Amino acid sequence: MSSALQISASISSNSSSFLNCGFGIRPSKSSLPPASRSHGICLCVAAPSEQTGTYKTKVSRNANMAKLQAGYLFPEIARRRSAHMLKYPDAQVISLGIGDTTEPIPEVITSAMAMRAHSLSTVEGYSGYGAEQGDKNLRAAIASTFYGDLGIEETDIFVSDGAKCDISRLQLLFGSNVKMAVQDPSYPAYVDSSVIVGQTGLFQKDIEKYGNIEYMRCTPENGFFPDLSTVSKTDIIFFCSPNNPTGSASSRDQLMQLVQFAKDNGSIIVYDSAYAMYISDDSPQSIFEIPGAKEVAIETSSFSKYAGFTGVRLGWTVIPKELLFSDGFPVAKDFNRIVCTCFNGSSNIAQAGGLACLSSEGLKAMKDVIGFYKENTEIIVDTFTSLGFNVYGGKNAPYVWVHFPGRSSWDVFAEILEKTHLVTTPGSGFGPGGEGFIRVSAFGHRGNVLEACKRLKQLYK
Ligand SMILES: Cc1ncc(COP(=O)(O)O)c(C=O)c1O
Repeated sequence: MSSALQISASISSNSSSFLNCGFGIRPSKSSLPPASRSHGICLCVAAPSEQTGTYKTKVSRNANMAKLQAGYLFPEIARRRSAHMLKYPDAQVISLGIGDTTEPIPEVITSAMAMRAHSLSTVEGYSGYGAEQGDKNLRAAIASTFYGDLGIEETDIFVSDGAKCDISRLQLLFGSNVKMAVQDPSYPAYVDSSVIVGQTGLFQKDIEKYGNIEYMRCTPENGFFPDLSTVSKTDIIFFCSPNNPTGSASSRDQLMQLVQFAKDNGSIIVYDSAYAMYISDDSPQSIFEIPGAKEVAIETSSFSKYAGFTGVRLGWTVIPKELLFSDGFPVAKDFNRIVCTCFNGSSNIAQAGGLACLSSEGLKAMKDVIGFYKENTEIIVDTFTSLGFNVYGGKNAPYVWVHFPGRSSWDVFAEILEKTHLVTTPGSGFGPGGEGFIRVSAFGHRGNVLEACKRLKQLYK
């Protein structure tokens, strides 16, 4: 793999990197093969161009960047997808691999953003830099909507340009001198940001793990909740529920164990609740529903998968005042310093959209879109179940986790792509614990999801 691709791999772990259409520039749609044109899939990020000259600066490469794995999941999928489209230029490729939303943003939300945008053209409505921590009204609305009676206040909320960005800012806050734990499998941004800030050792190819990270195995056998009696003490515990990729949400009892475990070890939990609104059962939607969590946990979340804001960019992180470092210094105060140094506040237009999301009509509109994706999820779950597969997730998340025992995730990915022109995600890309699984995303237009399921039924009947 080229060095440019390695860089692109390290910075991108979701949809954009799937859509690899060459380096450097965003090609015009007309230059694409028919399959990609018909699905509007060329959205590749501008990545650095490959080395062309021989002149070198005297700056050494950051050794932590060099630790990142070249064979990273999403660019490899993009490469295979591109090769497939070259081989079958007329194929109708459908992606159920991308964790990106597909349905339009409800108008109650876009009209608020449009109004805010227009007001910037007026003397009265113009505003420049806002508060780094976010608009006061939006912070208050997030606190009351998502944490109503949990004792989280407006001042505990930091509005951001998305959960992924906050994950990296949190790593900057913790620094290189901590050890972290992650669920295995898990959303790749936790591990990669840990590598980048220098918390880890080298990647150990034989076990497919980085040194100095505690991988907490989550399997069907343990209900996708780690056996904490076998987990070593770490400073930081990244925990995502509902989980990407397994789609499973932890129960109240499990989260009580997690909070107790953190307290016993003096650890901080970074709880990623980016899919909490997809929960259908009585699993907690926030870690702060667990008594005592305010002393041990941070929560990060996002409008991305609730309101189709993956491109608009808006999220938030909650750091309760009660959360203290070992010297008694409030974690929120240090995070405030990081935010003021590294971030100049979320876009005022995006924040107007966020506020509209939390109005009563906005909330209803978001729930309707989530309901649509949940119907997609049911269609996918029913398809794989009817074919005799063991299927996990789906109930509380837009991801379906399908087991192909004894098979390599990449082989299954390749078989499905070759025989049905469907893109899925090999589970092993989310950590060694994902081997033998594929992740199927429910983000898609209904027609595509139905067509994809028809093809899967033909393949595995
Ligand atoms: C678990 C999880 N956290 C965070 C994110 C990123 O969210 P955002 O778009 O707010 O950066 C994603 C995106 O796929 C995700 O799956």
